Amino acid sequence: MSLAVEKMHPLIGAKVRGVDFRRPMSADLMAELNRIWMENLVLIFPNQPVTDEEHVEATRAFGEPEVFHQNIIKSRKVPEIFRVSNVDDDGNLMMPEHPTMQQLGSARKWHTDSSYRQNPAMGSLLHGIEISKTGGVTCFINMYEVYEELPNHLKQKVEGRRACHDFDKLSRIASARKATDDERAAMPPVWQPMVRRHPITGRKSLFISPIYNDEVEGMETTEASELIEELTEFAEQDRFVYRHHWTKDDIVLWDNRCTMHLVTPHDPMERRVMHRTTIVGDGPVIAA
Ligand code: OGA
Ligand code: MN
Repeated sequence: MSLAVEKMHPLIGAKVRGVDFRRPMSADLMAELNRIWMENLVLIFPNQPVTDEEHVEATRAFGEPEVFHQNIIKSRKVPEIFRVSNVDDDGNLMMPEHPTMQQLGSARKWHTDSSYRQNPAMGSLLHGIEISKTGGVTCFINMYEVYEELPNHLKQKVEGRRACHDFDKLSRIASARKATDDERAAMPPVWQPMVRRHPITGRKSLFISPIYNDEVEGMETTEASELIEELTEFAEQDRFVYRHHWTKDDIVLWDNRCTMHLVTPHDPMERRVMHRTTIVGDGPVIAA
């Protein structure tokens, strides 16, 4: 097996060559990839012109693909595909006022995917199909390092505490469409530890997902929001962040258990089509 691994940042992100997502992945290859993934948190696989079906199939090598709980955003043809796109299933550009764009716009703030689920997603695989030239840079934070470097007054505040992760917060921050009663019942708010232990590496990381967090155990709402904001400001320092500038047919794999991400704005008149699969969580979040 000849994998070439090139680090993109001292703390997070590595480019991996020598993998073809259109072909079955052997057990040996998966063992090696998982090792490199745990070490680098975010992996970039260049030159992967996969179909949606091949993308989903490759995802199965890592775990079970998650199906998004709302009909918007999900691909009509391949339900495991989450469409991070300003072009609809029929190829029409959606304007920023479109409810789907309002909801996707929340990805311009730091978050981790599906943190509002009882078992949050383990990882995500994003395929760049039509790339933005005007922005649309995806940024990732190493949350292990953030936790280790947290100043004492913040460490004390998060230690042993839980934060609420609520999907419905999206409808309050973006003018995204309100969840229906059924959607709300299907995705009730969950309380998650603010410091978690990674089930594979055993390392501790800070676990917040600011677009979904507005309550913290034992705090008034204002104090909770201020804490989440202060933690976010600490986390987004350059030294913890890898910025991914896309090339068409990159596939980027990230670990939602120890990272946060966001996308920078881009010209809304420029098409940007990215298809994501999400890997179902391997179990409840482990408090550390
Ligand atoms: C995502 C996401 C970032 C991007 O796919 O989960 O947040 O670059 N997208 O579009
Ligand atoms: Mn995301």
